[in-house]
Amino acid sequence: MNVNEVIRDDWLRAIFPEWGTWLVEEIEAEKVPRGNVAMWWLGCMGVWLKTARPTNLTIDFWVGTGKRSHPTTPMSTTHQYYKMCRSRITQPNLRLTAVPIDPFAVKNLDAFLSTHFHSDHIDPYATAAVLRNCPSAKFVGPRACVDIWRSWSVPEDRLIEVRPGDELTIGDVKITALESFDRTLELTEYPIAGVEGTLEEKAVNYVLETSSGVIYHAGDSHYADRFVEHGKKFDIDVAIGAYAHNPIGITDKMTASDFLRMGESLGAKVIIPMHYDTWSNFQSDVREIEALYRLQAERLGYKFHPYIWQLGGKYVYPLERDKKYFNYERGFPDAFENN
Ligand SMILES: [Fe+2]
Repeated sequence: MNVNEVIRDDWLRAIFPEWGTWLVEEIEAEKVPRGNVAMWWLGCMGVWLKTARPTNLTIDFWVGTGKRSHPTTPMSTTHQYYKMCRSRITQPNLRLTAVPIDPFAVKNLDAFLSTHFHSDHIDPYATAAVLRNCPSAKFVGPRACVDIWRSWSVPEDRLIEVRPGDELTIGDVKITALESFDRTLELTEYPIAGVEGTLEEKAVNYVLETSSGVIYHAGDSHYADRFVEHGKKFDIDVAIGAYAHNPIGITDKMTASDFLRMGESLGAKVIIPMHYDTWSNFQSDVREIEALYRLQAERLGYKFHPYIWQLGGKYVYPLERDKKYFNYERGFPDAFENN
């Protein structure tokens, strides 16, 4: 290599996405053990779910970023965070984790679900890749997401709009859309100019019922007492929700206390915090959830436990039901076998 000839575009092509096609290869090669369902954390609230059949679907598959340069104008008075705390200084939300998946390497996807339209849950790149390379994949989301996909030229026959209470079946997964409790979205302008929308039209939570486990995806819901209602309607095995430390003036993500309450209210068996990985201004130490759990679990009779995942990690339920932590493969299993 002659480095005198290397240009920025060479670097972008050679290095990004940092994991290349590693994760797509892993997911495609995975033979989900019968009686189990496998999931991978795609970052933020992104999850890939694969059944033994296999049915492949994603929720909030997002490959975007946050700030990439310093803002030169004040935050808009229409922004949800301005409405929340009257701050005019734009938040310094830098994406801290790698994009673990190359969306353009994905070939086998049956459905592409979105909980809501905030720009860390839906983006044109993952949408374009799935639209082009996964011809049978449906785009499932609340009205606002469908409106965005339509504005990006996703054809009508690929779109499925859902409202709380709606059910559909993709392969061997029964999907039910439920009420979102994302109060930040109540303050967020509808993403299509001049259109009004209710929270039910802006966001949904999902329950994914498989023969091997029931997965609840809370999107960016805040804590809400109505989690109890959802927990009484479904026998939830694994509940995934948005946890992070909120900056001053902002209530946007569930705290550790909220998160444990979510697990208790839903009657889940395993709770998995997500979203805390993403933003530089919402960082937290996830061990806070474990510490609070240890203090409260016995006294309050918790019937669930937290699972601490990592970016790009695989979790197989119920095979790994009793595990508390993910760790990446450490390699070298054949050490000193090849002398
Ligand atoms: Fe989010």
